[in-house]
Amino acid sequence: MPIPDTLADAACRVLNTPNPACKIALSHRVADAWRTGAISEVGTALPPDRPARPEKPELKFPRDMPRRRGAGSLPNRIALLHAVAHIELNAIDLAWDLIARFAAPDMPRAFFDDWVNVADQEAAHHALVAARLHDLGAAYGDLPAHDGLWLSAQKTAHDLLARLAVVPLVLEARGLDVTPDMIEKLKRQDDTASVAVLQTIYDEEIGHVAVGQRWFEWECTRRNIDPVVTYRDMVDRYYGSELKEPFNRAARDAAGMIPAFYEAP
Ligand SMILES: [Fe+2]
Ligand SMILES: [Fe+2]
Repeated sequence: MPIPDTLADAACRVLNTPNPACKIALSHRVADAWRTGAISEVGTALPPDRPARPEKPELKFPRDMPRRRGAGSLPNRIALLHAVAHIELNAIDLAWDLIARFAAPDMPRAFFDDWVNVADQEAAHHALVAARLHDLGAAYGDLPAHDGLWLSAQKTAHDLLARLAVVPLVLEARGLDVTPDMIEKLKRQDDTASVAVLQTIYDEEIGHVAVGQRWFEWECTRRNIDPVVTYRDMVDRYYGSELKEPFNRAARDAAGMIPAFYEAP
């Protein structure tokens, strides 16, 4: 199938693709087309309220999810990797949704370059975890998953600053806080293949938080508002709960996150 002419339309095509392998392949194709100039126009498009997804996994409310305990057995390791696979599939759609939803003629090209790179990497992340699940005799879709990430996307669909505050700068930053502990648990199980997958994801996620921080500050400058006050306000309004400590200060620093954003005043 030929690829759409504009980046916004191409992003919508990815969002409307239910099969994860097809979503990944199309993400890589669109990213290549953007980088080579085969797609040169950003355009505008209305993304779907919800992305197309496979029939499985069954989606539950976060509060209805079974509790996970560590990584101390094969079923627990599979559950952990399955949860990561689900986050990464959401992350693909979140990146394309941000591109389509906030595509506007006055946004700089560098904005789209950054988010296309993020989308491309999220697609690679899901593929890595799905392949690891396969090696362990499981598959994405075997277990239920929660829909919390898309609920956050819907709550922040009206405002770029709300979206950047909650998705990269709360949720992905939280990923930086919790991933080292997951890696340690997998090391204790001598699961070096899963460790390598999570380490790759962790290293690249620092870059995603950095992209979120860069464009959050850029947009605050453009609107002539204070980034710290605005971040805290957006988190109160659209995330709705306290930020959870402990924070991974080293990783957040590496991403350029300002401590005054998240540390108690
Ligand atoms: Fe990711
Ligand atoms: Fe990410």
